[in-house]
Amino acid sequence: MHVIHLSVECFPLAKVGGLADVVGALPRYQRKFGVDAWVVSPFYDKPFTKERQFQLVHGGTFTQGAETLAYEVLKEENDPLGFPLYLIRIPGKLDREEVYCYPDEAEQWIAFQHAFLRWISDTAIVPDVVNCHDHHVGLVPFLMKHATDFNHLADVKTLFTIHNGQYQGWMTWDKGSLLPAFDTWKWGLLDWDGLINPFAAAVKCCDAFSTVSEGYLKELFVQANGLERLFQMEADRGFGIINGIDDAYWNPELDTQIPKKYKKSSVKSGKKSNKKEFCDAAALDSNLPLLAFIGRFAQEKGADLLPDIITHIFSTLEDKICIFILGSGDEAVEEALQELQDRYPQRLATFIGYNEQLAHQVYAAADLLLMPSRVEPCGLNQLYAMKYGTVPVVHAVGGLKDTVIDVAAASGYGFLFQAPEAEAAAQSVVRAVETLKDPSVLQKIRQKAMSLDFSWDKSANKYIQLYDQL
Ligand code: GLC
Repeated sequence: MHVIHLSVECFPLAKVGGLADVVGALPRYQRKFGVDAWVVSPFYDKPFTKERQFQLVHGGTFTQGAETLAYEVLKEENDPLGFPLYLIRIPGKLDREEVYCYPDEAEQWIAFQHAFLRWISDTAIVPDVVNCHDHHVGLVPFLMKHATDFNHLADVKTLFTIHNGQYQGWMTWDKGSLLPAFDTWKWGLLDWDGLINPFAAAVKCCDAFSTVSEGYLKELFVQANGLERLFQMEADRGFGIINGIDDAYWNPELDTQIPKKYKKSSVKSGKKSNKKEFCDAAALDSNLPLLAFIGRFAQEKGADLLPDIITHIFSTLEDKICIFILGSGDEAVEEALQELQDRYPQRLATFIGYNEQLAHQVYAAADLLLMPSRVEPCGLNQLYAMKYGTVPVVHAVGGLKDTVIDVAAASGYGFLFQAPEAEAAAQSVVRAVETLKDPSVLQKIRQKAMSLDFSWDKSANKYIQLYDQL
């Protein structure tokens, strides 16, 4: 079976969030099970594209409104990622340093999708399945059925995988003239509430859609940023498949980015030495419990609650805990954290930015990982944390609820709170610190978390079964 994953993020080419981690790992696991899985992404102007070797496999032109755009398809030589990676280069549109936040995002993703379809059409590549990830490539299922130049692909199956339903790629209808010519009678498939909505179009036109956890699938029927009605109508084509983690890369036994490797049986001493080194560097006291947050400072991640949560925690546990925050985004959050750091220099440290190596070190060093997300389609950070014996304290939502069991149950290994509110989150942290004070309880919970199997094998097979059903 030949499957093409289409995504604008893929680790280590370009990562903004968990989408990159999934697209950078899932295809490799699928190949293990005999699927010929490829990834197609944009050729950005990033270190990855400068440092790696590529081979030109195709090139051509297409029109986008009044512009004629040239594109090239380059394949990374020797598949070092464990799957064929094809990158589409479109000068003026995709050769950028960042993935998102350009004013011409609509033009960028339309160009990417158009070039992809032009390339596979002109070279007679006919995959069995095109697996589109998130709204940036959400027009493809529509175009494969209804674009004049591409409807010969109408029988190729499409799976639309939803990593985040908050962003839908909305564009005003004047952008419609930038799309490849399509059967205008079908315009309604592109539309939602008077805008072109690539995300909604994908849900309407794909053969099936999947979410990255079962819990999130259920939530979309009641909270889908305006698309609840659509999800209710299309419910029978939706499937929840929980993400896995790349356990070759996120694994304290093999991790070359942390000071001291460790495994389940050596978790106590392993975490202790990683924590010591980390806290010394961050000027924190390594004898105290260390709570961490890693992620984008976005509303959906509950990052705006962090300043209040921290204040609540320090007012209860004043000199009994240290906190480390790694992330960036909302400037108001960045500023509020800076103020708190000035107030509690020995208790709170931050790294504002994105730093992959530091993230590994935080998982290895921290005792607790906090995730106060309002929306969490799957969440990978809690899975990474558990793999490193770091106990998750999470809001009971989406994939967090599906993957973390509260210690209140005998089988539990984490701490859940029911409302995405500062006080509830802080109380949960206090409960965690109190519970884990007992070294034997801490050891038991760490080892339980480390024994859980969130490897990709199971979920990669679920995708394959779903492709088969299509
Ligand atoms: C998005 C979601 C996150 C999920 C990731 C990978 O970033 O917000 O919950 O784990 O995609 O699917």
